[in-house]
Amino acid sequence: MSAPNNSFDPVEVTPLHPDEVARMREEALAAIAAAQDLAELKEVRLAHAGDRSPLALANREIGALPPAAKAEAGKRVGGARRDVGQAVKERQAALEAERDERVLVEERVDVTLPWDRTPRGARHPLTTVAERMADVFVGMGFEIAEGPEVEAEWFNFDALNFQPDHPARTMQDTFFVEGPDGGDSGVVMRTHTSPVQVRALLSRELPVYVVAPGKTFRTDELDATHSPVFHQLEGLVVDKGITMAHLRGAIDAFVGSMFGEGLRTRFRASYFPFTEPSAEVDMECFVCRGASVGDPDNPCRTCSSEGWIEIGGCGVVNPRVLVAAGVDPEVYSGWAFGLGIERTLMFAHGVRDMHDMVEGDIRFTSAFGSEN
Ligand code: PHE
Repeated sequence: MSAPNNSFDPVEVTPLHPDEVARMREEALAAIAAAQDLAELKEVRLAHAGDRSPLALANREIGALPPAAKAEAGKRVGGARRDVGQAVKERQAALEAERDERVLVEERVDVTLPWDRTPRGARHPLTTVAERMADVFVGMGFEIAEGPEVEAEWFNFDALNFQPDHPARTMQDTFFVEGPDGGDSGVVMRTHTSPVQVRALLSRELPVYVVAPGKTFRTDELDATHSPVFHQLEGLVVDKGITMAHLRGAIDAFVGSMFGEGLRTRFRASYFPFTEPSAEVDMECFVCRGASVGDPDNPCRTCSSEGWIEIGGCGVVNPRVLVAAGVDPEVYSGWAFGLGIERTLMFAHGVRDMHDMVEGDIRFTSAFGSEN
């Protein structure tokens, strides 16, 4: 049996040569220093400090060395590996700190920036009130009818029994649409929603139960109570055996549902070419219920101490209108009404000035909330 060959002193294998270990160490440290981000550093770590890195492979050679050489080579390679591991750790910490810094800057949120640069809109209260008014009648079985805002004079006037010399036709009230040659076009901005009565009768099967909310136009100056553009809710019933009593009942139902149950209504005799008889519709003031009348100490701002509030016009459909719309007045009869939507909004919501309704200030519309 031979003794251990302790005196054997082979030339060390190349990877364990001091110069080579130093070179691998330097190479690793340079690569670590050059890593620009954490992803790069990870690759560098695998290449220079991982299980298959040159220093790890060199480490494996140590076992084959004679004992005397083992210690020295182990120290050399171990020191290099420790230095590399330490450098990776430090670089890792530096790059993480850099990243955290960058994230703080790049992902900074200025909590003082306005968050509502596109605030949610609100529907205009005229729209929501008009819908609620129409809904009262829809609940009674009425349908919604429509007509154009730019209307043929025949629908707006002639079919409604306005004589050619009726004052409503003159320039004082009506916006006439100019023809292409600057002359008469036969078309106007509708001055009321009543032309929809004729359109509904011409286009629908009888009986007809409709309401028509819409925009109307008259040459009024804008002031606290007038606007050249305003809105009406037209109502029309044409059926067999219809009387003014049904009209009164429908108006009462409307007033009760919009302003409060039990409010009285009254009809004052009036004139419209398209209804006969005709009436102005008043409702009892829902604020003072008449208590302010003749009591100067308790004036009512809502009804100007009149006790009554005018809400529109109405009447029994003139047989001439039925004839113009092709309906036999011997068989059918009906009634119609026109209610002011601005007036309803003013009274139902205490809006005092027409300017608030037309100026488009969102503080006004949003105060009513976004109803659906
Ligand atoms: N069209 C009328 C107006 O604008 C109102 C009305 C409608 C009157 C229907 C009677 C019947 O004043």
